[in-house]
Amino acid sequence: VTDSVDVGFLGCGTVGSAVLRLLDEHRDDIFERSGCRFEVRRIAVREPDRTRDVPVPPGRFTDDPASVVEDPEVRVVVELMGGVDPARDLVLSALRSGKRVVTANKELLAKHGPELFQAAAGSGAGLHFEATVAGGVPLIRPLIESLPAERITRLLGIVNGTTNYILDRMTEDGIAFADALTEAQRLGYAESDPTDDLEGFDAAAKCAILASLAFDTRVVADDVYREGIARVSPADIEFADRLGYVVKLLAVAELEDGDVAVRVHPAMIPRDHPLAAVRDAFNAVFVDGPNIGELMFYGRGAGGAPTAVAVVGDLITAGRLVTEGRPGLTFTWEVRHRIRPMDLMESQFYLLLDVVDRPGVLAQVAGAFGDHRVSIKSVWQEGTGDDALLVLITHRANEGALRATVEDLERLEPVLEVRSVLRVEGEE
Ligand SMILES: NC(=O)c1ccc[n+]([C@@H]2O[C@H](COP(=O)([O-])OP(=O)(O)OC[C@H]3O[C@@H](n4cnc5c(N)ncnc54)[C@H](OP(=O)(O)O)[C@@H]3O)[C@@H](O)[C@H]2O)c1
Repeated sequence: VTDSVDVGFLGCGTVGSAVLRLLDEHRDDIFERSGCRFEVRRIAVREPDRTRDVPVPPGRFTDDPASVVEDPEVRVVVELMGGVDPARDLVLSALRSGKRVVTANKELLAKHGPELFQAAAGSGAGLHFEATVAGGVPLIRPLIESLPAERITRLLGIVNGTTNYILDRMTEDGIAFADALTEAQRLGYAESDPTDDLEGFDAAAKCAILASLAFDTRVVADDVYREGIARVSPADIEFADRLGYVVKLLAVAELEDGDVAVRVHPAMIPRDHPLAAVRDAFNAVFVDGPNIGELMFYGRGAGGAPTAVAVVGDLITAGRLVTEGRPGLTFTWEVRHRIRPMDLMESQFYLLLDVVDRPGVLAQVAGAFGDHRVSIKSVWQEGTGDDALLVLITHRANEGALRATVEDLERLEPVLEVRSVLRVEGEE
Protein backbone atom coordinates (compact mmCIF):
# COMPACT_ATOMS: atom_id res chain seq x y z
CA VAL A 1 0.00 0.00 0.00
CA THR A 2 1.32 3.37 -0.99
CA ASP A 3 0.07 6.73 0.26
CA SER A 4 1.26 8.58 -2.82
CA VAL A 5 -1.13 8.83 -5.76
CA ASP A 6 -0.04 10.15 -9.14
CA VAL A 7 -2.63 12.35 -10.78
CA GLY A 8 -3.01 13.62 -14.33
CA PHE A 9 -5.04 16.69 -15.24
CA LEU A 10 -6.99 17.32 -18.42
CA GLY A 11 -7.48 21.10 -18.35
CA CYS A 12 -6.16 23.86 -16.16
CA GLY A 13 -8.64 26.70 -16.56
CA THR A 14 -10.92 28.29 -13.96
CA VAL A 15 -11.57 25.06 -12.09
CA GLY A 16 -8.32 23.22 -12.85
CA SER A 17 -6.09 26.00 -11.58
CA ALA A 18 -8.22 26.39 -8.43
CA VAL A 19 -7.88 22.65 -7.80
CA LEU A 20 -4.10 22.82 -8.18
CA ARG A 21 -3.93 25.75 -5.75
CA LEU A 22 -6.10 23.95 -3.20
CA LEU A 23 -4.01 20.76 -3.45
CA ASP A 24 -0.90 22.81 -2.80
CA GLU A 25 -2.20 25.04 0.01
CA HIS A 26 -3.95 22.24 1.91
CA ARG A 27 -1.42 19.53 1.15
CA ASP A 28 -0.78 18.61 4.82
CA ASP A 29 -4.44 18.75 5.87
CA ILE A 30 -5.38 16.55 2.93
CA PHE A 31 -2.71 14.02 3.90
CA GLU A 32 -3.78 14.01 7.55
CA ARG A 33 -7.43 13.52 6.72
CA SER A 34 -7.12 11.08 3.85
CA GLY A 35 -3.74 9.43 4.19
CA CYS A 36 -3.02 10.37 0.55
CA ARG A 37 -0.40 12.55 -1.00
CA PHE A 38 -1.28 13.62 -4.51
CA GLU A 39 1.52 14.09 -7.03
CA VAL A 40 0.48 16.07 -10.09
CA ARG A 41 2.47 14.47 -12.89
CA ARG A 42 1.03 15.90 -16.07
CA ILE A 43 -1.41 18.60 -17.05
CA ALA A 44 -2.88 18.81 -20.55
CA VAL A 45 -3.87 22.26 -21.82
CA ARG A 46 -4.26 23.84 -25.23
CA GLU A 47 -1.33 26.24 -24.74
CA PRO A 48 1.35 24.59 -22.59
CA ASP A 49 3.74 27.53 -22.89
CA ARG A 50 1.42 30.16 -21.43
CA THR A 51 2.42 31.49 -18.01
CA ARG A 52 -0.08 30.31 -15.41
CA ASP A 53 -0.60 31.23 -11.80
CA VAL A 54 -0.50 27.68 -10.49
CA PRO A 55 1.92 26.10 -8.00
CA VAL A 56 3.32 23.30 -10.17
CA PRO A 57 6.93 22.79 -11.27
CA PRO A 58 7.67 23.73 -14.89
CA GLY A 59 7.65 21.01 -17.49
CA ARG A 60 4.42 19.40 -16.30
CA PHE A 61 2.27 20.96 -19.03
CA THR A 62 1.60 19.25 -22.32
CA ASP A 63 -0.67 19.84 -25.29
CA ASP A 64 -1.15 16.11 -25.73
CA PRO A 65 -4.03 14.99 -23.51
CA ALA A 66 -3.64 11.35 -24.60
CA SER A 67 -0.20 11.31 -22.98
CA VAL A 68 -1.84 12.08 -19.62
CA VAL A 69 -4.31 9.25 -19.92
CA GLU A 70 -1.69 6.82 -21.22
CA ASP A 71 0.94 7.62 -18.57
CA PRO A 72 1.21 4.31 -16.65
CA GLU A 73 2.06 6.15 -13.40
CA VAL A 74 -1.14 8.19 -13.47
CA ARG A 75 -3.77 6.46 -11.33
CA VAL A 76 -6.38 9.21 -11.21
CA VAL A 77 -7.34 11.44 -14.14
CA VAL A 78 -9.00 14.76 -13.29
CA GLU A 79 -10.99 15.94 -16.32
CA LEU A 80 -11.61 19.69 -16.23
CA MET A 81 -11.44 20.56 -19.92
CA GLY A 82 -15.20 20.55 -20.57
CA GLY A 83 -17.13 19.65 -23.73
CA VAL A 84 -17.66 16.26 -25.33
CA ASP A 85 -14.77 16.10 -27.79
CA PRO A 86 -12.09 15.07 -27.01
CA ALA A 87 -13.12 14.64 -23.33
CA ARG A 88 -15.34 11.63 -24.05
CA ASP A 89 -12.67 9.51 -25.73
CA LEU A 90 -10.08 10.47 -23.14
CA VAL A 91 -12.30 9.63 -20.17
CA LEU A 92 -13.44 6.38 -21.78
CA SER A 93 -9.88 5.33 -22.44
CA ALA A 94 -8.82 6.21 -18.87
CA LEU A 95 -11.73 4.21 -17.40
CA ARG A 96 -11.15 1.23 -19.67
CA SER A 97 -7.54 1.05 -18.54
CA GLY A 98 -8.69 1.00 -14.90
CA LYS A 99 -7.85 4.60 -13.96
CA ARG A 100 -10.18 6.49 -11.67
CA VAL A 101 -11.68 9.61 -13.16
CA VAL A 102 -12.89 12.75 -11.43
CA THR A 103 -14.88 15.11 -13.64
CA ALA A 104 -16.82 18.36 -13.42
CA ASN A 105 -18.12 17.95 -16.96
CA LYS A 106 -21.94 17.93 -16.79
CA GLU A 107 -22.35 17.99 -20.56
CA LEU A 108 -20.25 14.85 -20.98
CA LEU A 109 -21.98 13.03 -18.15
CA ALA A 110 -25.52 14.01 -19.17
CA LYS A 111 -24.94 12.94 -22.76
CA HIS A 112 -22.75 9.88 -22.29
CA GLY A 113 -23.13 8.84 -18.65
CA PRO A 114 -24.39 5.30 -19.31
CA GLU A 115 -21.45 4.52 -21.60
CA LEU A 116 -18.92 5.97 -19.16
CA PHE A 117 -20.29 4.01 -16.21
CA GLN A 118 -20.29 0.83 -18.24
CA ALA A 119 -16.60 1.37 -18.98
CA ALA A 120 -15.92 2.05 -15.30
CA ALA A 121 -17.78 -1.06 -14.18
CA GLY A 122 -15.95 -3.18 -16.75
CA SER A 123 -12.52 -2.34 -15.36
CA GLY A 124 -13.36 -1.74 -11.70
CA ALA A 125 -12.42 1.92 -12.05
CA GLY A 126 -14.64 4.64 -10.61
CA LEU A 127 -16.12 7.82 -11.99
CA HIS A 128 -16.62 10.67 -9.53
CA PHE A 129 -18.71 13.67 -10.50
CA GLU A 130 -19.71 15.78 -7.48
CA ALA A 131 -18.73 19.00 -9.27
CA THR A 132 -20.99 18.41 -12.27
CA VAL A 133 -24.06 19.86 -10.54
CA ALA A 134 -24.19 22.97 -8.37
CA GLY A 135 -20.40 23.41 -8.16
CA GLY A 136 -19.44 23.60 -4.51
CA VAL A 137 -22.73 22.31 -3.11
CA PRO A 138 -22.46 18.70 -1.87
CA LEU A 139 -25.36 17.11 -3.68
CA ILE A 140 -24.33 14.11 -5.78
CA ARG A 141 -22.85 12.18 -2.89
CA PRO A 142 -25.84 12.83 -0.57
CA LEU A 143 -28.19 11.66 -3.33
CA ILE A 144 -26.16 8.48 -3.89
CA GLU A 145 -24.99 7.70 -0.37
CA SER A 146 -27.30 9.37 2.14
CA LEU A 147 -30.72 9.12 0.54
CA PRO A 148 -31.06 5.66 -1.06
CA ALA A 149 -33.54 4.66 1.67
CA GLU A 150 -35.92 7.40 0.53
CA ARG A 151 -38.25 7.29 -2.46
CA ILE A 152 -37.80 10.79 -3.74
CA THR A 153 -40.97 12.09 -5.38
CA ARG A 154 -39.91 15.47 -6.67
CA LEU A 155 -36.81 17.54 -7.09
CA LEU A 156 -36.88 21.26 -7.94
CA GLY A 157 -33.60 22.99 -8.64
CA ILE A 158 -32.10 26.36 -9.40
CA VAL A 159 -28.97 24.97 -10.99
CA ASN A 160 -27.81 27.75 -13.29
CA GLY A 161 -26.31 30.80 -11.61
CA THR A 162 -26.24 32.98 -14.73
CA THR A 163 -29.97 32.83 -15.35
CA ASN A 164 -30.76 33.17 -11.66
CA TYR A 165 -28.65 36.30 -11.55
CA ILE A 166 -30.42 37.76 -14.61
CA LEU A 167 -33.92 37.00 -13.30
CA ASP A 168 -32.93 38.38 -9.91
CA ARG A 169 -31.79 41.69 -11.47
CA MET A 170 -35.00 41.89 -13.51
CA THR A 171 -37.01 41.33 -10.31
CA GLU A 172 -35.08 43.62 -7.99
CA ASP A 173 -34.19 46.45 -10.36
CA GLY A 174 -37.15 46.23 -12.76
CA ILE A 175 -34.81 46.09 -15.77
CA ALA A 176 -35.39 44.23 -19.04
CA PHE A 177 -33.80 40.90 -19.94
CA ALA A 178 -31.25 42.40 -22.37
CA ASP A 179 -29.97 44.93 -19.80
CA ALA A 180 -29.73 42.31 -17.09
CA LEU A 181 -27.75 40.09 -19.47
CA THR A 182 -25.31 42.92 -20.26
CA GLU A 183 -24.75 43.45 -16.55
CA ALA A 184 -24.22 39.73 -15.95
CA GLN A 185 -21.60 39.70 -18.72
CA ARG A 186 -19.87 42.78 -17.29
CA LEU A 187 -19.59 41.06 -13.90
CA GLY A 188 -18.34 37.80 -15.39
CA TYR A 189 -21.52 35.85 -14.46
CA ALA A 190 -22.35 35.25 -18.12
CA GLU A 191 -20.05 34.14 -20.90
CA SER A 192 -19.64 36.11 -24.12
CA ASP A 193 -21.71 33.40 -25.81
CA PRO A 194 -24.34 32.78 -23.15
CA THR A 195 -26.56 30.42 -25.22
CA ASP A 196 -25.84 27.36 -23.12
CA ASP A 197 -27.05 29.07 -19.97
CA LEU A 198 -29.89 31.22 -21.36
CA GLU A 199 -31.47 28.47 -23.43
CA GLY A 200 -31.38 26.05 -20.51
CA PHE A 201 -28.90 23.53 -21.99
CA ASP A 202 -26.66 23.74 -18.93
CA ALA A 203 -29.60 23.31 -16.54
CA ALA A 204 -31.01 20.44 -18.64
CA ALA A 205 -27.73 18.52 -18.38
CA LYS A 206 -27.76 18.97 -14.60
CA CYS A 207 -31.46 18.05 -14.47
CA ALA A 208 -30.70 14.78 -16.28
CA ILE A 209 -27.93 13.91 -13.82
CA LEU A 210 -30.07 14.74 -10.79
CA ALA A 211 -33.09 12.84 -12.09
CA SER A 212 -30.92 9.78 -12.81
CA LEU A 213 -29.70 9.77 -9.23
CA ALA A 214 -32.99 10.69 -7.56
CA PHE A 215 -34.99 8.00 -9.37
CA ASP A 216 -32.16 5.51 -9.99
CA THR A 217 -32.85 5.36 -13.70
CA ARG A 218 -31.39 6.47 -17.00
CA VAL A 219 -32.12 10.07 -17.92
CA VAL A 220 -29.96 11.78 -20.53
CA ALA A 221 -29.82 15.43 -21.60
CA ASP A 222 -32.05 14.88 -24.65
CA ASP A 223 -34.83 13.49 -22.43
CA VAL A 224 -35.25 16.85 -20.71
CA TYR A 225 -37.89 19.23 -22.07
CA ARG A 226 -36.26 22.67 -22.23
CA GLU A 227 -37.25 26.34 -22.49
CA GLY A 228 -34.91 29.27 -21.83
CA ILE A 229 -35.53 32.62 -20.14
CA ALA A 230 -35.26 35.03 -23.09
CA ARG A 231 -39.05 35.39 -23.39
CA VAL A 232 -39.65 36.31 -19.74
CA SER A 233 -40.86 39.92 -19.87
CA PRO A 234 -40.80 42.70 -17.27
CA ALA A 235 -44.64 42.41 -17.25
CA ASP A 236 -44.40 38.74 -16.20
CA ILE A 237 -41.99 39.65 -13.43
CA GLU A 238 -44.25 42.48 -12.28
CA PHE A 239 -47.43 40.36 -12.25
CA ALA A 240 -45.55 37.59 -10.46
CA ASP A 241 -44.60 40.08 -7.79
CA ARG A 242 -48.14 41.44 -7.44
CA LEU A 243 -49.58 37.95 -7.14
CA GLY A 244 -47.01 36.80 -4.60
CA TYR A 245 -44.65 34.86 -6.85
CA VAL A 246 -41.04 35.05 -8.05
CA VAL A 247 -39.84 33.95 -11.52
CA LYS A 248 -36.96 31.43 -11.57
CA LEU A 249 -35.43 29.09 -14.15
CA LEU A 250 -36.29 25.72 -12.63
CA ALA A 251 -35.08 22.21 -13.25
CA VAL A 252 -37.97 19.92 -12.37
CA ALA A 253 -37.75 16.15 -12.00
CA GLU A 254 -40.72 14.25 -10.65
CA LEU A 255 -42.45 10.91 -10.66
CA GLU A 256 -45.85 11.01 -12.33
CA ASP A 257 -47.76 7.69 -12.55
CA GLY A 258 -44.45 5.80 -12.46
CA ASP A 259 -42.94 7.89 -15.27
CA VAL A 260 -40.11 10.35 -14.78
CA ALA A 261 -41.07 13.86 -15.87
CA VAL A 262 -38.03 16.05 -16.51
CA ARG A 263 -38.09 19.65 -17.67
CA VAL A 264 -36.26 22.96 -17.48
CA HIS A 265 -38.18 26.20 -17.96
CA PRO A 266 -38.86 29.53 -16.33
CA ALA A 267 -41.54 29.21 -13.67
CA MET A 268 -43.30 31.24 -11.02
CA ILE A 269 -42.84 29.96 -7.49
CA PRO A 270 -44.62 31.29 -4.39
CA ARG A 271 -42.66 33.98 -2.60
CA ASP A 272 -42.65 31.94 0.61
CA HIS A 273 -41.14 28.85 -1.09
CA PRO A 274 -37.53 28.27 0.07
CA LEU A 275 -36.31 28.45 -3.55
CA ALA A 276 -37.68 31.99 -3.88
CA ALA A 277 -34.98 33.15 -1.46
CA VAL A 278 -32.18 31.94 -3.75
CA ARG A 279 -30.67 35.18 -4.97
CA ASP A 280 -27.85 36.36 -7.24
CA ALA A 281 -25.89 33.53 -8.81
CA PHE A 282 -26.56 31.04 -6.01
CA ASN A 283 -27.86 27.52 -6.64
CA ALA A 284 -30.27 25.38 -4.65
CA VAL A 285 -31.92 22.01 -5.02
CA PHE A 286 -35.12 21.21 -3.16
CA VAL A 287 -35.98 17.55 -2.67
CA ASP A 288 -39.32 16.07 -1.56
CA GLY A 289 -39.87 12.59 -0.18
CA PRO A 290 -42.46 10.90 2.02
CA ASN A 291 -40.05 10.21 4.88
CA ILE A 292 -37.51 13.00 4.61
CA GLY A 293 -40.17 15.64 3.94
CA GLU A 294 -38.64 18.73 2.39
CA LEU A 295 -34.88 18.99 2.08
CA MET A 296 -32.81 21.76 0.51
CA PHE A 297 -29.20 22.03 -0.64
CA TYR A 298 -27.98 25.59 -1.12
CA GLY A 299 -24.73 27.31 -2.01
CA ARG A 300 -22.33 28.54 -4.67
CA GLY A 301 -23.06 26.67 -7.86
CA ALA A 302 -20.03 27.86 -9.78
CA GLY A 303 -16.69 29.59 -9.50
CA GLY A 304 -13.23 28.08 -9.37
CA ALA A 305 -12.76 27.97 -5.60
CA PRO A 306 -16.10 26.39 -4.55
CA THR A 307 -16.02 23.91 -7.42
CA ALA A 308 -12.43 22.97 -6.57
CA VAL A 309 -13.53 21.91 -3.07
CA ALA A 310 -15.94 19.43 -4.64
CA VAL A 311 -13.31 18.16 -7.11
CA VAL A 312 -10.70 17.64 -4.37
CA GLY A 313 -13.30 15.83 -2.24
CA ASP A 314 -13.80 13.40 -5.11
CA LEU A 315 -10.06 13.15 -5.67
CA ILE A 316 -9.60 12.13 -2.03
CA THR A 317 -12.28 9.45 -2.35
CA ALA A 318 -10.67 8.18 -5.55
CA GLY A 319 -7.21 8.30 -3.94
CA ARG A 320 -8.35 6.24 -0.97
CA LEU A 321 -9.93 3.62 -3.23
CA VAL A 322 -6.67 3.43 -5.20
CA THR A 323 -4.43 3.06 -2.15
CA GLU A 324 -6.76 0.48 -0.61
CA GLY A 325 -7.02 -1.36 -3.93
CA ARG A 326 -10.81 -1.23 -3.90
CA PRO A 327 -13.04 -0.92 -6.96
CA GLY A 328 -14.90 2.31 -7.54
CA LEU A 329 -18.55 2.89 -6.87
CA THR A 330 -20.60 1.82 -9.86
CA PHE A 331 -23.85 3.31 -10.87
CA THR A 332 -25.84 1.16 -13.27
CA TRP A 333 -27.86 3.84 -15.03
CA GLU A 334 -30.38 1.25 -16.19
CA VAL A 335 -33.73 2.28 -17.63
CA ARG A 336 -36.20 1.76 -14.77
CA HIS A 337 -38.79 4.42 -15.58
CA ARG A 338 -40.25 5.71 -18.81
CA ILE A 339 -39.64 9.38 -19.63
CA ARG A 340 -43.01 11.11 -19.56
CA PRO A 341 -43.96 12.79 -22.84
CA MET A 342 -44.27 16.56 -22.40
CA ASP A 343 -47.96 16.61 -23.35
CA LEU A 344 -48.77 14.43 -20.34
CA MET A 345 -46.72 16.42 -17.81
CA GLU A 346 -48.61 18.46 -15.27
CA SER A 347 -48.18 21.83 -13.64
CA GLN A 348 -50.06 24.97 -12.80
CA PHE A 349 -49.98 27.79 -15.34
CA TYR A 350 -49.97 31.57 -15.41
CA LEU A 351 -51.35 33.28 -18.53
CA LEU A 352 -51.23 36.94 -19.45
CA LEU A 353 -53.79 37.97 -22.08
CA ASP A 354 -54.57 41.22 -23.88
CA VAL A 355 -58.35 41.34 -24.26
CA VAL A 356 -61.01 43.79 -25.40
CA ASP A 357 -62.47 45.51 -22.34
CA ARG A 358 -66.21 44.79 -22.52
CA PRO A 359 -68.78 42.73 -20.59
CA GLY A 360 -68.86 38.98 -21.27
CA VAL A 361 -65.22 38.59 -22.27
CA LEU A 362 -64.25 36.90 -19.05
CA ALA A 363 -67.00 34.30 -19.53
CA GLN A 364 -65.76 33.54 -23.06
CA VAL A 365 -62.19 33.15 -21.83
CA ALA A 366 -63.30 30.94 -18.92
CA GLY A 367 -65.26 28.83 -21.43
CA ALA A 368 -62.09 28.03 -23.40
CA PHE A 369 -60.45 26.73 -20.23
CA GLY A 370 -63.57 24.74 -19.31
CA ASP A 371 -63.70 23.09 -22.74
CA HIS A 372 -60.32 21.47 -22.02
CA ARG A 373 -61.02 20.79 -18.34
CA VAL A 374 -58.37 23.23 -17.20
CA SER A 375 -59.61 24.68 -13.95
CA ILE A 376 -58.92 28.32 -13.13
CA LYS A 377 -57.62 29.12 -9.67
CA SER A 378 -57.56 32.92 -9.78
CA VAL A 379 -58.13 35.80 -12.20
CA TRP A 380 -56.95 39.38 -12.14
CA GLN A 381 -58.17 41.98 -14.61
CA GLU A 382 -56.80 45.43 -15.21
CA GLY A 383 -58.41 47.89 -17.62
CA THR A 384 -56.20 50.02 -19.85
CA GLY A 385 -58.87 51.97 -21.77
CA ASP A 386 -60.37 49.98 -24.66
CA ASP A 387 -58.24 46.98 -23.81
CA ALA A 388 -57.67 45.07 -20.60
CA LEU A 389 -54.96 42.80 -19.28
CA LEU A 390 -56.21 39.52 -17.96
CA VAL A 391 -54.02 37.40 -15.72
CA LEU A 392 -55.08 33.85 -14.91
CA ILE A 393 -53.53 31.18 -12.69
CA THR A 394 -54.79 27.64 -13.21
CA HIS A 395 -54.87 24.62 -10.93
CA ARG A 396 -52.57 21.75 -11.88
CA ALA A 397 -53.36 20.78 -15.44
CA ASN A 398 -51.97 18.72 -18.22
CA GLU A 399 -49.60 20.40 -20.72
CA GLY A 400 -51.52 19.10 -23.72
CA ALA A 401 -54.82 20.45 -22.38
CA LEU A 402 -53.24 23.80 -21.64
CA ARG A 403 -51.75 24.03 -25.13
CA ALA A 404 -55.15 23.27 -26.67
CA THR A 405 -56.69 25.97 -24.44
CA VAL A 406 -54.14 28.52 -25.64
CA GLU A 407 -54.88 27.64 -29.27
CA ASP A 408 -58.59 28.24 -28.64
CA LEU A 409 -57.89 31.50 -26.81
CA GLU A 410 -55.85 32.74 -29.77
CA ARG A 411 -58.90 32.17 -32.00
CA LEU A 412 -61.32 34.06 -29.74
CA GLU A 413 -62.29 37.45 -31.21
CA PRO A 414 -61.97 39.48 -27.97
CA VAL A 415 -58.54 38.00 -27.19
CA LEU A 416 -56.05 40.34 -28.86
CA GLU A 417 -52.96 38.44 -27.77
CA VAL A 418 -51.82 35.65 -25.48
CA ARG A 419 -48.81 37.59 -24.21
CA SER A 420 -47.25 34.95 -21.98
CA VAL A 421 -47.66 31.50 -20.58
CA LEU A 422 -45.48 30.45 -17.65
CA ARG A 423 -45.66 27.41 -15.42
CA VAL A 424 -46.27 27.80 -11.70
CA GLU A 425 -44.40 25.35 -9.48
CA GLY A 426 -44.06 24.59 -5.81
CA GLU A 427 -47.63 25.49 -4.91
CA GLU A 428 -49.99 22.52 -5.40
N1 LIG B 1 -16.18 27.39 -14.10
C1 LIG B 1 -17.02 26.92 -13.19
O1 LIG B 1 -17.44 27.64 -12.29
C2 LIG B 1 -17.49 25.48 -13.25
C3 LIG B 1 -18.32 24.99 -12.22
C4 LIG B 1 -18.73 23.66 -12.26
C5 LIG B 1 -18.33 22.85 -13.30
N2 LIG B 1 -17.55 23.36 -14.30
C6 LIG B 1 -17.12 22.47 -15.37
O2 LIG B 1 -15.72 22.26 -15.25
C7 LIG B 1 -15.14 22.07 -16.53
C8 LIG B 1 -14.03 23.09 -16.73
O3 LIG B 1 -14.55 24.39 -16.65
P1 LIG B 1 -13.62 25.69 -16.61
O4 LIG B 1 -14.53 26.83 -16.31
O5 LIG B 1 -12.45 25.46 -15.72
O6 LIG B 1 -13.15 25.75 -18.13
P2 LIG B 1 -11.96 26.66 -18.76
O7 LIG B 1 -11.61 27.74 -17.84
O8 LIG B 1 -12.39 26.98 -20.15
O9 LIG B 1 -10.74 25.64 -18.83
C9 LIG B 1 -10.63 24.59 -19.77
C10 LIG B 1 -9.22 24.04 -19.71
O10 LIG B 1 -9.13 22.90 -20.58
C11 LIG B 1 -8.07 23.09 -21.52
N3 LIG B 1 -8.52 22.49 -22.78
C12 LIG B 1 -9.70 22.70 -23.42
N4 LIG B 1 -9.76 21.97 -24.55
C13 LIG B 1 -8.61 21.29 -24.61
C14 LIG B 1 -8.05 20.38 -25.56
N5 LIG B 1 -8.73 20.01 -26.65
N6 LIG B 1 -6.82 19.87 -25.31
C15 LIG B 1 -6.12 20.23 -24.22
N7 LIG B 1 -6.60 21.09 -23.28
C16 LIG B 1 -7.81 21.61 -23.49
C17 LIG B 1 -7.85 24.59 -21.61
O11 LIG B 1 -6.50 24.85 -22.02
P3 LIG B 1 -5.92 26.37 -22.08
O12 LIG B 1 -5.80 26.79 -20.64
O13 LIG B 1 -4.59 26.26 -22.72
O14 LIG B 1 -6.93 27.16 -22.84
C18 LIG B 1 -8.14 25.01 -20.17
O15 LIG B 1 -7.00 24.86 -19.37
C19 LIG B 1 -16.30 22.19 -17.52
O16 LIG B 1 -16.79 20.91 -17.80
C20 LIG B 1 -17.33 22.99 -16.77
O17 LIG B 1 -18.65 22.73 -17.21
C21 LIG B 1 -17.11 24.64 -14.28
